[in-house]
Amino acid sequence: MRIDIISCQPGLLEGFFAHSIMKRAAENGSAEVVIHDLRDYGLGKNRQIDDYAFGGGAGMVMMIEPLSKIIRNLTAERQYDEIIYMTPDGERLNQKAVNTLSLRTNLMIICGHYKGIDERVRQLFVTREISIGDYVLSGGEIAAAALADAVIRLIPGVLNDETSALTDSFQDNLLAPPVYTRPAVFEDKAVPEVLLSGNEKLINEWRLAKSVERTEERRPDLLQ
Ligand code: ADE
Repeated sequence: MRIDIISCQPGLLEGFFAHSIMKRAAENGSAEVVIHDLRDYGLGKNRQIDDYAFGGGAGMVMMIEPLSKIIRNLTAERQYDEIIYMTPDGERLNQKAVNTLSLRTNLMIICGHYKGIDERVRQLFVTREISIGDYVLSGGEIAAAALADAVIRLIPGVLNDETSALTDSFQDNLLAPPVYTRPAVFEDKAVPEVLLSGNEKLINEWRLAKSVERTEERRPDLLQ
């Protein structure tokens, strides 16, 4: 998979993809993340990328020319399965959407800033608009990193067995059960007996029951 991310703050993203599981995914060829600095496509000697909103009001709007130039450059090189704009008014991201996106070959992600991007960019180029939650970030970079991370970790070969995605929360509309490691007793808190029993069937039954209990308690909407 290849993910192109368009940002006017590329430094926010570079560190993120240079570590841990995202770094491993790049090194073993599972996912190539290419970060583009929108400023390189800015207008004039100031490399302008934003301007005042028509109609007035506070906040700048990201201009259509720099964005259309880079999007057209990229789409001339390869076909994109989705051109995604990270925005709080997009569809709310969930595991189902992440699973689907992890099967794609080429994704492009646009990070907004200020008051957002010129509406015509959305009309002309964007195929999907995604929010990571009902709150407003100061830019789309953290949202893009969250999306790319969630997608890339599902690509076969990125996670090892110990961190397998199959038992994640949400994979079967259930939250994950509680987990424990050594010591078996900490102060007066002991690990549930069954987990020490070595009986795989009982352990699986316990985990499923705990998953259901936790989901009923915390996220009953997932069970509907
Ligand atoms: N940009 C700003 N806030 C956002 C959010 N909640 N989701 C996606 N992109 C955003």
